[in-house]
Amino acid sequence: MENSVLKFDPAVFAVGHDYQIIFITETMGLGWIEIDGERYTDEEGGLLIYDTVHKIPVPGGKLNAAGKYTVVFVEYLDKKPYFPKGEEKVRKEYKFYPVTGDDFRLFQYADTHARTQTPVETYKTVGDCDLVVLNGDINEHSYEIKNFYTSFELVGNSVHGERPVIYSRGNHDTRGLAAQLLPGYIPTAFRNGRRETFYSFRQGGLWGLVLDCGEDKYDHNVEYGGTILFETFRKRETEYLEWLIANKETEYEAPGVKHKIAFCHVPFVEHFSHPFDVADDVYEYWTELLGKMGIDLLLCGHMHRAYFIPAHTEKCRNAEFPTAVCSIPEVKREDGSKYYVGGMIECRGGSRKVKIVPDGDEMTF
Ligand SMILES: [Fe+2]
Repeated sequence: MENSVLKFDPAVFAVGHDYQIIFITETMGLGWIEIDGERYTDEEGGLLIYDTVHKIPVPGGKLNAAGKYTVVFVEYLDKKPYFPKGEEKVRKEYKFYPVTGDDFRLFQYADTHARTQTPVETYKTVGDCDLVVLNGDINEHSYEIKNFYTSFELVGNSVHGERPVIYSRGNHDTRGLAAQLLPGYIPTAFRNGRRETFYSFRQGGLWGLVLDCGEDKYDHNVEYGGTILFETFRKRETEYLEWLIANKETEYEAPGVKHKIAFCHVPFVEHFSHPFDVADDVYEYWTELLGKMGIDLLLCGHMHRAYFIPAHTEKCRNAEFPTAVCSIPEVKREDGSKYYVGGMIECRGGSRKVKIVPDGDEMTF
């Protein structure tokens, strides 16, 4: 068995109460997941998907209870119309540890902009975390499919397929030829015929909300050449936030929810000046809606700086909740070496704090 056909350890993305396990293979073929002898596939319309990316939805309850899963890949060098032949190349078992109680440690990667070594070094400084979030701009752009591998390298080298991962898209991730293929490589929620990049998830006592601002300038900005329509996209997202409030009993007010944390690449509670003043009225309303939900913290990146915005900060939107902006792609030490600055949330024994890591300030929330 050549388990090396697996490019990275799989990423187990949390969406809703379930997971989407995504893994990449060196060669073309069919992939699936087995849990307690049951097979979970990416079958659509009766077909198993023939590709190097394998995105498999699995029920959260089953995986949480089993605490392990098996990745299977059968290589098909060709997919002929008659008698295609496959050979099993990967059969690898992974342990899995979901968040079960109210305590957890979460690490944030954001704005790595294609770096992997220094961000993983910072993760290792912090020590093992229960959850990892990829909070946007993991790459410079999405021109080629290989750009998507950065996410898998980061989480594979951090949690090795054994812990849940949260994915929130950044504005740079929306740029370039392959950007429209990104939904095949990231977790998505399927609503009204579309794969959407905003959704809630549940892990133990944590209810999480993943938001996506899209681009940081107007759709008509010359930089995008007429290729985007985030104004329409944000309208659907606003409707989704209203839907969450209408269905709060099964979402953020469901039994057992202790922490309500929102993740968004862009810290939309801030006012930005032109040409970055896009969607001002939308973000004003989102801030109000998140306040209504009683969000405890909004975790962001995008600014290439690390700081905290307390609730009701003057010169920002009037947010009922604090925001933590925690990512600097590269910082130089005096000796010339470089390191990555990320964020960490720690909820333990009733206390909650967010920290700029490896050596920054912290804020309780
Ligand atoms: Fe950004």
